[in-house]
Amino acid sequence: MTRPHLIVVDDPEAAAAVAVARVLALLAAKPWAVLGLATGETMRPIHRGLVGACQRGAVSFAQARTFNLDEYTGLRPGHPGSFAAFMRRTLFDAVDFAPGATHLPDGDDPAAYDTAIAAAGGIDLQLLGIGGNGHIGFNEPGSDFASRTRIVRLAAATRIDNAASFAPDPVPEQAVTMGIGTILAARSIVLVATGAAKAQAVAAALGPAMSPDCPASALRLHPAAIIVADRAAAGGIK
Ligand code: GLP
Repeated sequence: MTRPHLIVVDDPEAAAAVAVARVLALLAAKPWAVLGLATGETMRPIHRGLVGACQRGAVSFAQARTFNLDEYTGLRPGHPGSFAAFMRRTLFDAVDFAPGATHLPDGDDPAAYDTAIAAAGGIDLQLLGIGGNGHIGFNEPGSDFASRTRIVRLAAATRIDNAASFAPDPVPEQAVTMGIGTILAARSIVLVATGAAKAQAVAAALGPAMSPDCPASALRLHPAAIIVADRAAAGGIK
């Protein structure tokens, strides 16, 4: 068991650049790679970087496959607050994925997602953000480290953090998420954390104890996980 390798950079743009470089290196070596993707504000500059690289011909996603971490349940298809809509806006519609190559979990059949990931050969590189409460995907504090893709109830703190995507409507109460066990099965993991609101969660993820109180602390069960933090997000590390 080792703590994830920590890379501290100046700002969110520099953190995104590290993640983008990892994705580009993977696709250069393995154009048919399977990417685990994430949503959230942290991912915006990463997706922008990937779109820019594709537009200048530095990468093609034509053979790649993707599996997103999570999705809200109970939203109508195309709901602008859905992660599917977020992914279309920030990445999928702007690059050259083949039809059917991108996947998000389906609340009607969560277990099928793990089967589909395995059938694709497993995830080569999983991108992660981190919740202010240490969640990864929507695996809230208390989640089992062996959990697989399943329906979960969102923590009150998470619903407050994500309110802007739904205002004036309430944030859905449930979601479907890859489990921590699903995430840990990826061959490599890059968690990106930016901003002071993540400092406590990052400190807990790297702290002395691995605990379900901080789901991201499970990354030390993975042999090749890195955490890329900007100075603000790294500010609480002892
Ligand atoms: C959401 C997502 C997570 C994401 C987290 C942080 O709840 N389910 O996958 O990492 O929020 O989001 P942000 O980057 O917007 O802070």
